Amino acid sequence: MKSYVLSAASAVAIIASNAAYAGPEAEVLHYWTSGGEARSVAVLQEEFAANGGTWTDMPVAGGGGDAAMTALRARVLSGNAPTAVQLKGPAIQEWYAEGVLADISAVAEAEGWADLLPASIAAHMQCDGTWCAAPVNVHRVDWIWANAEILSANGIEMPTTWEEFNAAAETLMAAGIIPLAHGGQAWQDATVFETVALGVGGPEFYQQALVNLDPEALTSDTMVAVFDQMRIMRGFVDPNFSGRDWNLATAMVMNGEAAFQIMGDWAKGEFIAGGQEPGVDFLCASTPGDGYLYNVDSFAMFAVEGEDKQAGQALLAELVMGQNFQEVFNLNKGSIPARTDVSLDAFDSCAQTSAADMASTSEAGTLLPSYAHGMALFGAQSGAITDVVTAHFNSDMTSQDAVQMLADAVANSM
Ligand code: BGC
Repeated sequence: MKSYVLSAASAVAIIASNAAYAGPEAEVLHYWTSGGEARSVAVLQEEFAANGGTWTDMPVAGGGGDAAMTALRARVLSGNAPTAVQLKGPAIQEWYAEGVLADISAVAEAEGWADLLPASIAAHMQCDGTWCAAPVNVHRVDWIWANAEILSANGIEMPTTWEEFNAAAETLMAAGIIPLAHGGQAWQDATVFETVALGVGGPEFYQQALVNLDPEALTSDTMVAVFDQMRIMRGFVDPNFSGRDWNLATAMVMNGEAAFQIMGDWAKGEFIAGGQEPGVDFLCASTPGDGYLYNVDSFAMFAVEGEDKQAGQALLAELVMGQNFQEVFNLNKGSIPARTDVSLDAFDSCAQTSAADMASTSEAGTLLPSYAHGMALFGAQSGAITDVVTAHFNSDMTSQDAVQMLADAVANSM
């Protein structure tokens, strides 16, 4: 690990000119609080400390990060922004537009990030030509996880179509097994919804409806069919699903209480943290249909005063893009490295599938940003969609009414 903080020359200048300089420090706001997530962020804390940094942890529990984003807004509004924040997608550019982000171009250029990242990922990290965030990984959202033993005991293969999924779920229900482990939180409903939209409608439909917000796609018969499938899936969850955290839903699959979960590959971090092995204890497959929904975690630095904090930001930015960190963090997190030059030899078959599918979908033009995980839309728009998805899932609203409500909500959010 190189030891420069800022550039080596400016660090020396700072130390010489400022006797009070005590070394890099960072207060880090993140929402990695589940078992697998905590193991992952610990890797960064350890590397930061090993490089002389002092880490102040600000974890805000709540999957998907909604609570963390509320906490962030309160801190920024009170003029006391955290040094580094787990932030991603267009929210990075939204914060940049408010003039509160630090420029980390010096580190990015010194480390050659432009050559180490796929162009699509690099674009998410840039604001008006400067570097404003550092990526840690690529999570895939469109995954089905399954308990291997339950599937084999019931003669079920991993479903490759939604019809097969529905048929498998019926078989499981008849056998008294909960087919789908789900947590009734809006972001989890949205996660399932976007995989269904991709699978039922195909990548072009997903792009039109959930990225371009095209009114025709939003009100199409295909969107009706997407809500129809959501209604069917509502019948596959247990009665206690409301409010359940995503990692508790994963635990249901791990413990054999439920057969499947549809969730991004941070769920794999839970299986791994629980000592389970892919292909043996649990199975992974992309959700039925073509395409790949990506979700890139990253850190943005907020404009803060003080040499210690600024040195901390530069050190963090350098570390998260480091080769070793990208390997070890992602082995724990369930994701794959954002850097293209990290060997995948140590990664399991789910990660290998993810990397291969990311390459082939990128080639085919079907590598798509996850709307549910903040990669595709501004907050007001994704929030408007998620409100409708969740209102439909938790009521007996018809698919036609949901589609009309969706079109109206999106139109009002623009
Ligand atoms: C984040 C993951 C996180 C998951 C659950 C996703 O939006 O990208 O890093 O593990 O939410 O909180």
